[in-house]
Amino acid sequence: MTTLTIPKWFDAHTHVRQGGLIEPIVKSQIDMGCYAILAMPNTKPPVGKVRDADDGDMWSIEHYRDLIMNAGGDQLSHLVTPLYLTKDTSAKMIVDGAKSGLLTNIKYYPPHGTTNADFGIPMEEFLKSDLPKAMSDNGVILNIHGEEHGLKATSYFDRETNAEEIFYTERMPKLVEAFPDLKIVCEHITTKVATDFVLNTNDNVSATITPQHLLYTVGDLILGLKYHLFCLPVVKFDADRQALRNAVTTPSQTKFFAGTDSAAHTEKCTPCGCAAGCFTGGIAPQLYAQAFEEAGLDLSRVDHELMFKNFLCHNAPDFYGIERSSETFTLSKTPQTISKIPTAEGEITPLPLGMGMDTIPWSIAE
Ligand code: DOR
Ligand code: ZN
Repeated sequence: MTTLTIPKWFDAHTHVRQGGLIEPIVKSQIDMGCYAILAMPNTKPPVGKVRDADDGDMWSIEHYRDLIMNAGGDQLSHLVTPLYLTKDTSAKMIVDGAKSGLLTNIKYYPPHGTTNADFGIPMEEFLKSDLPKAMSDNGVILNIHGEEHGLKATSYFDRETNAEEIFYTERMPKLVEAFPDLKIVCEHITTKVATDFVLNTNDNVSATITPQHLLYTVGDLILGLKYHLFCLPVVKFDADRQALRNAVTTPSQTKFFAGTDSAAHTEKCTPCGCAAGCFTGGIAPQLYAQAFEEAGLDLSRVDHELMFKNFLCHNAPDFYGIERSSETFTLSKTPQTISKIPTAEGEITPLPLGMGMDTIPWSIAE
């Protein structure tokens, strides 16, 4: 039986939500070996200001950090809490926020592009504004949800193109050319086009990749309409999944790292459509290990284990300038049975269960 004792890891993209969901979700992150998390700001209201005392009705980074800390986040070594980029975000907020130490990251959402993305601004407005320069000058990292917004169905998802490919072809080159020193994380990339963009761009540009985008394709979503696999950006084609797998299994690669985008929805299928988001709390390292094996790696080999560790444990803290964890946890190739997670706000269904599987090949040793 293969066992991997590896450093605790930084989930560089997750959603811990609000209210009665924060505590069980933070616990699921800690249970799966996280010593650090980046908690996305698409709460209701969004985390759109830095300090409580700042103008406006949105939540502040200060407030959201307190909520998370009080719900078990104080057991983490690092908590990264980006600001949600809205029409109210100003260069002064960025300069002052960065100086205070509270503002380290800003999340770009395409307007109406995903769950609680209604406050996002169009990319062309961001590009024309004084915000990217303020971020670049003050060392604030940009986390990008890279999908073109407002497209009609045929360009949103078509055989030849899709919203992510349009974004990485038409928007991102301009941003990176204008602001080469801006540190950017291309969040949850799903296509070969986005992967190639990250590979061919300077070292200030990196990317997170989720377990579901390494494991599944759009065929898995459509076969039986497995709505628990519906997330945004949506899972793509085999050539895209292969590009992602090649990227993460390249020896010594430093640009690609784990960010689960674990996104709980207690009501996934609603009368007006399906909420976007896959929940992988508690089981993401196991799913990543499964994906690396499906990509052809033998994790009992030292060189293959190192590729896995680079992706899961090393590259994200290195990119963020956070020290790697000196603590470890152990994954073993022993099947694990999974079940729904009860919370005060309803049940959460982990992704494999939603795919009709109650057992996964890897588990975390006690
Ligand atoms: O599938 C997704 N779910 N994609 C996102 O960008 C947001 C997330 C959520 O918050 O549910
Ligand atoms: Zn997300």
